[in-house]
Amino acid sequence: MEKIRVGLIGCGGRMGAHMKSFEQMPEVEVAAVADPIAERRENAAKRFGCKRVYADHRELYAAENKNTLDAVLIAVEPTAHDGTEEGAIDRGLPFLVEKPMTLDVKQGRKIAAQIKEKKLITAVGFQDRYLDLMEMVKAEVDKAPKGGLVYGAWVGGIPGPWWWQKKSTCGGQLVEQNIHLLDGLRWLYGEAESVWATCTTGMIHAGQNGVSPLYDTDDHSTVVIRFANHVTATLVSACYSRSVRPNCGLVITLPDMILDYRLRNNLIIRTAEETRDIPRKVDQTLLLDQAFINAVRTGDASGIRSPYEDGLKSLELGFAANESMETEQVIHF
Ligand SMILES: NC(=O)c1ccc[n+]([C@@H]2O[C@H](COP(=O)([O-])OP(=O)(O)OC[C@H]3O[C@@H](n4cnc5c(N)ncnc54)[C@H](O)[C@@H]3O)[C@@H](O)[C@H]2O)c1
Repeated sequence: MEKIRVGLIGCGGRMGAHMKSFEQMPEVEVAAVADPIAERRENAAKRFGCKRVYADHRELYAAENKNTLDAVLIAVEPTAHDGTEEGAIDRGLPFLVEKPMTLDVKQGRKIAAQIKEKKLITAVGFQDRYLDLMEMVKAEVDKAPKGGLVYGAWVGGIPGPWWWQKKSTCGGQLVEQNIHLLDGLRWLYGEAESVWATCTTGMIHAGQNGVSPLYDTDDHSTVVIRFANHVTATLVSACYSRSVRPNCGLVITLPDMILDYRLRNNLIIRTAEETRDIPRKVDQTLLLDQAFINAVRTGDASGIRSPYEDGLKSLELGFAANESMETEQVIHF
């Protein structure tokens, strides 16, 4: 079998997970890598014995094309998408891009339109759509009378990358991190009818207790989303939590069942008769990467659960929630 030649744009934390996948996928050759940080690009190149090493995506695209690569993976910080996807589109290269794919909705819509025109295979890094536990949640929700309450939470501390601590460079915790659960809600319930959100700053102090002097993002936020069929979801995000934390994930109360999905770990299904606790069995990032590479190899994209156009809808819902945080208004769709 001919190997699928991939180029890696951004060799930071998240690309590390994709690199781990590719080490388990003999059908993939990491043929080119790019990152402005020399140590990162060189470590990535060494890991795969890759000889084509570039300082950024511009250098990579100047030298690479459809004759030398079959696909690219893009995992750069949210504000660094200045040509990372457009370069792939211009060269007809399928790409997998990490969420949030941009913080500029106009750029996202333009990219989505170009992808459609070129019929390009794309995937967004919504890894949770490939989780066995989320598949089980979806199967139960699809079987039951749809209505009810959903409570979702992503509560923790402040992640490491510098850009995470500024709302203007990360989009806020909802858009950067809790977008996984936001996307999960869209996967379960379809498009939102309305969103209202509020947020707080002032609990965490920039420059104190190891917090970056740049810190200005929300300490916590709460989003209320109405879906069709009498579903109301409340999604909370927080990064001020330190030594003890509540359960994160989704709690869905159906008329005769409670689905208690513990973020990427286990699913507890409770009925009047029984309680089942099911552990996660899959590596969902590996499944995401396999789905993308398989689509590139066969031309059949049906295994990709979050193409760019769909991922953009989750991102736009996150942007609408941010708008509601600013305006204190309900946003109707
Ligand atoms: N799907 C997931 O579960 C998941 C998990 C973590 C992060 N992410 C997302 O992945 C993205 C990257 O996050 P991260 O944690 O790896 O950040 P990071 O800061 O660790 O890595 C980003 C890398 O991109 C490089 N970069 C910046 N501009 C570039 C350019 N023009 N060309 C090539 N490389 C460039 C940076 O030098 C850096 O090494 C973010 O959007 C983040 O939200 C997704």
